[in-house]
Amino acid sequence: MLLEGKVAVITGSTSGIGRAGAVLLAKEGARVVISGRNQERGQEVVSTIKKQGGEASFIAADMLAVADIERLVKEAVATYSRLDIFWHNAGIVGPDSIKDITQETYDKMMAVHLKAAVFGARFAAIEMSKSGGGAILFTSSVAGLKQSGFSMTYSLAKSGLVMLTRKLAVDLAKDKIRVNCLCPGRVQTGMRPDISQERARALGISAEEWEKKDKQRIPMGRFVTEEEVAEAALFLVSSKASAITGVALPVDGGFLAV
Ligand SMILES: NC(=O)c1ccc[n+]([C@@H]2O[C@H](COP(=O)([O-])OP(=O)(O)OC[C@H]3O[C@@H](n4cnc5c(N)ncnc54)[C@H](OP(=O)(O)O)[C@@H]3O)[C@@H](O)[C@H]2O)c1
Repeated sequence: MLLEGKVAVITGSTSGIGRAGAVLLAKEGARVVISGRNQERGQEVVSTIKKQGGEASFIAADMLAVADIERLVKEAVATYSRLDIFWHNAGIVGPDSIKDITQETYDKMMAVHLKAAVFGARFAAIEMSKSGGGAILFTSSVAGLKQSGFSMTYSLAKSGLVMLTRKLAVDLAKDKIRVNCLCPGRVQTGMRPDISQERARALGISAEEWEKKDKQRIPMGRFVTEEEVAEAALFLVSSKASAITGVALPVDGGFLAV
C-alpha cells in the first residue's frame, strides 16, 4: 500500500472529489480525517471507509473560519499523533462577473479557496515539520489556468492557488514538504448541475444541450470522474511523486491542451 502509516486531512471530503479521494487514500493505508460542515455526509464517508477495513474519522470545520482550520489540524494530530498529508479541496461555485460582484461574494470565494489554503498550509506545515516532512495538495481547477466564463472570483481564487503552490513548494522544500495542486476539468459532482443550469439559462438552451456542447470542447469527449481526480491526488501525495513539487496538474481530458 502506498500510504501505509500516513495520516491525511482532506477538507471538503464529505462529497464529490474529496470523498473519492478519502476513500482511495484510505484504501492505500492512510488514516484519513474527513472534513466539511455536513456531519451526516461526513459520517457516511467514515462508515464507507471503515466497511472497507480502513481508518477514518470526521471533524466538522467551516473553511470560512481560520479558527476552525486550526482546530481541524490540531484535532487530527491529537487523534492520530501526526500529520503527513494535508489536502485542501473544499470549494464552492457561483456565477459572478465584474458587473455584478458584491463584497460578500468576493470575500466568501477568496476565503473558502485561498485564505483557507494559506492558513491550512500554515497549520499543517508546522505539524509536518515535527515529523520530518509531508505533502500538501490543493484542488485548483482548469479555471485557475484559463479564465472561466462562469465566475470571475472562482478563476481568481483558483489561479491564486497555483501561485501559492509554487511559492510554498519553494519555501517548504527545506522542511521536506512537497506542495502541488490539481487542476480538474469538468467532473460530475454536486456542484456541476448548478453550473450547467446557469450556463444553459444564459445561452437560452437546456442543461442537457449545454452539457453536450461542453463535452465537445473536451478532446476526450467526456467529463472526468471523481475517481480519476482521486488517482491523481494519490500519486501526488505518495512517494511515487517524491521529486515533484510546485506543479499544477491538469486532470481535464485534454481541455487545456486545445
Ligand atoms: N466538479 C468540478 O467540475 C470541479 C472542477 C474543477 C475543480 N473543482 C474543485 O474541486 C473541489 C471539490 O468540488 P466538488 O466538485 O467535489 O464539489 P462538491 O461535491 O460540491 O464538494 C464540495 C466540498 O466542499 C465542502 N465545502 C464547501 N464549502 C465549505 C466550507 N465553507 N467549509 C468547509 N467545507 C466546505 C463541502 O462540504 P460541506 O457541504 O460538508 O461543508 C464539500 O465536501 C472544489 O475545490 C472545486 O472548486 C471541481
